[in-house]
Amino acid sequence: MTDLDRKVAVITGGASGLGLAFAQRFAIAGMKVAIADIEEPALDAAVEGLRDAGAEVLGVRCDVADARSVHDLAAAVDDAFGAVHVVCLNAGVALSGPLHKQTLADWQWIVGVNLMGIVHGLDAFLPGLVERDEGHVVVTASVAGHTAYPSLGPYSATKHAAVAIAEALYNEQAAAGSNVGVTALCPGFVATGIFDSARNRPENLADALAEPPTDEEVATREAFLEMIATEALRPSQVAEMVHDAVRDGTFWVFSDDRHVENIGNRHDEIRTRTNPTEGRTITQDAVD
Ligand SMILES: NC(=O)c1ccc[n+]([C@@H]2O[C@H](COP(=O)([O-])OP(=O)(O)OC[C@H]3O[C@@H](n4cnc5c(N)ncnc54)[C@H](O)[C@@H]3O)[C@@H](O)[C@H]2O)c1
Repeated sequence: MTDLDRKVAVITGGASGLGLAFAQRFAIAGMKVAIADIEEPALDAAVEGLRDAGAEVLGVRCDVADARSVHDLAAAVDDAFGAVHVVCLNAGVALSGPLHKQTLADWQWIVGVNLMGIVHGLDAFLPGLVERDEGHVVVTASVAGHTAYPSLGPYSATKHAAVAIAEALYNEQAAAGSNVGVTALCPGFVATGIFDSARNRPENLADALAEPPTDEEVATREAFLEMIATEALRPSQVAEMVHDAVRDGTFWVFSDDRHVENIGNRHDEIRTRTNPTEGRTITQDAVD
C-alpha cells in the first residue's frame, strides 16, 4: 500500500505498547486509526493522546478472545470510517513457567488472546480486504514464533501459530495475484507492558495455583525489567519498521538480530534430525 494518506487502520491491543506506537505512526502518515483494547483506562488515555496530536481516531473497547466483540469492533469501524485498509492483529499477552506448571486456565487465556484473537480478527476483517482486493494484514508474532526457549511453551505455541497463519495467508494471497499484503512482525524484546500482562487476565481464567513469588524470583524479575528498560527497543522504533513494511509490502519484520543465531541453530537441527541442544534462555540470547 504505497499511499496510506486518508486510509483506515485498525489495531488490536492499540491502547499501549506496540499497538499504540503503530497508531501514532500511522496517524503521522495521515491514516484514520481505530484502536481496540480490553483495558479501558489505557484506551481512553490513548485516544485522548492521539486526538491531541491531531489524529482522526476511534477507540473501541474489545476483547479479542471473544468473536462477537471483534465483529462489533468491525461494525463500529465501518460506521465511523468506512472500509478498512490496514488490519494489525497485535493484541497479546505473555506468561512464563515450565509446562508441567501450566494450568488449563493459563492455556485458555493465552490461546484465547494470542491465537483466537488473530482468528477472530481474520474472520471479521479479511473477507472485506480480499473482496475489495486492497489492504494489508500485520500479524504480531514474535521471535518466540521461531524458537522454543524454556519456560515459554504456551507463549511460543501461540506465536508459532501466528507465524504459520501469516505465512499461509501471504502464500494464498500471492498465489491469487491479490493486492492484499501481509507482514509477520517478529519482535525480540521491546519495552512495553507485555511483562505485566496479568493486569488484563480475566477473573474466570485466574491462576488458581499461583503462589506468592519467592525473594529470589522477585529479584530475578527486577533484574529482568531493568534489562528491558535499558536494552530493549522502544515501541516507536518497531512502529517505524511496521509502517515501512506496510508501505513496501515486506513480509518478514524482525526488530533486531539478537535471536537469529538461535533460530538458525534450530533450523540446522531440524535439517539434520539432531535432538534440540540444551536450551539457552530467551534472556541470555537478548543480552549476549
Ligand atoms: N514487548 C515485547 O518484547 C514483545 C516481543 C515479541 C512480541 N510481542 C507481541 O507484541 C504484541 C503487543 O504487545 P506489547 O508488547 O505492546 O504489550 P502491551 O501489554 O504493552 O500491549 C498489549 C495490549 O494488548 C491488550 N490486550 C490484552 N488482552 C487483550 C484482549 N483480550 N483483547 C484486547 N486487547 C487485549 C492490552 O491491554 C495491551 O494494551 C503482543 O502480541 C506481544 O505478544 C511483544
